[in-house]
Amino acid sequence: MLETTTIHDRLGHTMTLTPTPADKFTFGLWTVNYNGTDPFGGPTRPAMDVVHVVEKLAELGAAGLTFHDDDLFAFGSSDDERRRQIDRLKQAMADTGIKVPMITTNLFSAPVFKDGGFTSNDRAVRRYALRKVLRNLDLAAELGATTFVMWGGREGQEYDAAKDIRAALERYREAVNLLSQYVLDKGYGIRFAIEPKPNEPRGDILLPTVGNALAFINSLEHPEMVGLNPEVGHEQMAGLNFASTVAQALYHGKLFHIDLNGQRGIKYDQDLVFGHGDLYNAFALVDLLENGGPNGGPAYDGPRHFDFKPSRTEDETGVWQAAAANMRMYLLLKERAAAFRADPEVQAALQAAKVDELARPTLNDGEGYAGLLADRSAWEDFDTSAYLGGKGFGFVALQQLAAEHLMGVR
Ligand code: GCO
Ligand code: MN
Ligand code: MN
Repeated sequence: MLETTTIHDRLGHTMTLTPTPADKFTFGLWTVNYNGTDPFGGPTRPAMDVVHVVEKLAELGAAGLTFHDDDLFAFGSSDDERRRQIDRLKQAMADTGIKVPMITTNLFSAPVFKDGGFTSNDRAVRRYALRKVLRNLDLAAELGATTFVMWGGREGQEYDAAKDIRAALERYREAVNLLSQYVLDKGYGIRFAIEPKPNEPRGDILLPTVGNALAFINSLEHPEMVGLNPEVGHEQMAGLNFASTVAQALYHGKLFHIDLNGQRGIKYDQDLVFGHGDLYNAFALVDLLENGGPNGGPAYDGPRHFDFKPSRTEDETGVWQAAAANMRMYLLLKERAAAFRADPEVQAALQAAKVDELARPTLNDGEGYAGLLADRSAWEDFDTSAYLGGKGFGFVALQQLAAEHLMGVR
């Protein structure tokens, strides 16, 4: 890792790579505290205390910490123990300036949730899950969190006959409606963000992609209170284009939060460092988030939340190197995206590719089908033969410019 915080590349661009809270980088407590357990082996690292984690994150320039209830106080903790850990976290927050903008509930680790929480076939489990989330919403409000993530990793099935999917969706809907009503009645300024994932731990998970979740949100009693927390690796596990997915979430006003990490292809959930998977798509994503607004400004101003797992091979030094690498990758890609946008050759290639022309409505102002039918240039006089062997878009040249910016040679 480079020691310097500002570097000058060979063309003289200056990159500031020191994260500050203004960058809004946040980390899950379960990410840096992942102990290396996988289905084939136990921990390779001891657990770190939450106060130490908060202090290290502050030192590295992060803005915030997020967590599941059970990350902070073990499942089944007494009320006193729970309160003790909450108060220790609050003291660490006060001492460091670290914020908790998001919290979430663990409805997947304890044996009671082996068939899910909101959608377990067992009604008593569903009622217990709702109580666990209601209690955690009070904690979210107490800590000033404004986003409540719902990742339903155990909401799903392995065997088709074992789960009535329509009933499961109805129970999921019943749960989100109840939780929304609770937030409204309590006056908490909290919004919900559903995090899709296609599989793992369940063979198939309900709401497997952002598209499925968007349709579900429209069925809710308070759709305005519910958005998305898309994760890079989860869409890529389904072979989907994450940057495009996020663009659609933004288009529908539903990008409430985001989980950044890396994934290499369609396989188990790798949770690698951001940018250590599909680097092209990470570049497109940062360009979208930072420069994709209507006038070229940021399209998203929420936390840049890293949900990664430091590899099982690392010790604590490696954990913090990995945490720093996430932020550094984001800042490097942000600088590369800015250089890409500022390059006159890129601007010319974008023009040649008619990228801006897509923003122009297909019909003229006030025109309807009658006007279109009367326009001879749209049909009778339109020369479609010019498209055979002509009128190329130059998309490949544009992509090559993106590649060269990404590689730092422009
Ligand atoms: C995963 C998920 C989880 C969720 C987290 C928040 O790795 O499959 O990303 O880490 O984000 O549990 O609820
Ligand atoms: Mn994941
Ligand atoms: Mn996640």
